[in-house]
Amino acid sequence: MKKDLQFGSLCVHDFTKKINNHPHQLPIYATSSFAFEDLEQGIDIFSGKKEGHVYSRYGNPTIETVADKIANLETFGLDVKAKCFLFSSGMAAISSLLLASLKSGDSILTQNNLYGGTTYLLQDILKPLGVETIFTDFSKLENVERLLAKDDNIKMIYLESPANPTLACVDLEKVGGIAKRYKVRTVIDNTFLTPYLQQPFRFGIDFVIHSTTKFLNGHGNSVSGAVIGKDIDFMMEKVWKVMKLVGTNSNAFDAWMLNNGLKTLELRMDRHCQNANRLANYLNEHNKVIHVNHLSLKAHPDFELAKKQMRGAGGMLSFELEGGFTAAVKFMGRLQFCTLAPTLGDVDTLIVHPASMSHMDIPKVEREAVGISDGLIRVSVGIENVKDILKDIEQAID
Ligand SMILES: Cc1ncc(COP(=O)(O)O)c(C=O)c1O
Repeated sequence: MKKDLQFGSLCVHDFTKKINNHPHQLPIYATSSFAFEDLEQGIDIFSGKKEGHVYSRYGNPTIETVADKIANLETFGLDVKAKCFLFSSGMAAISSLLLASLKSGDSILTQNNLYGGTTYLLQDILKPLGVETIFTDFSKLENVERLLAKDDNIKMIYLESPANPTLACVDLEKVGGIAKRYKVRTVIDNTFLTPYLQQPFRFGIDFVIHSTTKFLNGHGNSVSGAVIGKDIDFMMEKVWKVMKLVGTNSNAFDAWMLNNGLKTLELRMDRHCQNANRLANYLNEHNKVIHVNHLSLKAHPDFELAKKQMRGAGGMLSFELEGGFTAAVKFMGRLQFCTLAPTLGDVDTLIVHPASMSHMDIPKVEREAVGISDGLIRVSVGIENVKDILKDIEQAID
């Protein structure tokens, strides 16, 4: 057939050899659609009679391989099955799950120290659609119980544990138990810890969210998000439908980059934890540091809770410098080795000063209420040699 074709047609068509090459690494399926062998196969796949791919917004072999891996990690060692979908970002994952779960008139119960983007999503996007958000302090579980008892519009509890930047934790087992009694779904954003350090399904949580942009990718070169759910039918019908119709799906290249990061997740997380523990101890002894928030320190109010539900204290910490705003800005200006970047979970150490960066538009009283004081510095401790991290922070403080 090739012989009879014209030049322009030869440019357009690929005559792939039908050889099974068994690639050693996951290929990037850079294709928007999938061709059918014949009409019958097309009809069977479209109607769901046979498994197969149709169009990459609905599903793609690269993306699905990585999503399945994340579902396996979140259920590792548990007698639980789960389904994962990958999205174009952490925010796309969160909004897709909320759209799939809530309707006008429903309410969502959450904490007031969520990632800022999630709070804005709840207030600026979901509220006008008729979904109310109720904020409460999850360290006082009697509040949670009281709110659930008096308001049966609450259909979902949305958590972050540990939360940014104080690393306050929520007792997942207790909240999971209360939620079951009131038949309310529970969701947790597990971005800060990854399934290596915390498996929320162990504690009866229904859905796990990740901004995979952070520790799961770990190299700062891919933006994506994940939703993992134990209710497979709900995932396949509702969450998949939102992904497909709103178009919040991931893409093969970002999923592939994420997969490269996942291969070293265990090694990286061990090193993130080791380095963060060292830095937390160093800062805790420093006379110009007022206090340190890290879950490896006995002084942290959630030290015992963290030991119960986490396998390690994680790579995130924050500390308060003596001298407030001016001292913090000076410190940031003196850093030479650590990177000033508004993200977290990468292999290199990333530092932000929330009061002059991520939270500069939030009134001082409001940010102080969630633990963000003028002198607070947040560190995403990287996996470099810890001596270089300590040396840079030491010279920047002194
Ligand atoms: C805890 C947490 N959840 C969700 C997100 C949103 O993720 P993305 O930036 O991938 O949309 C972020 C982003 O910083 C985050 O820190």
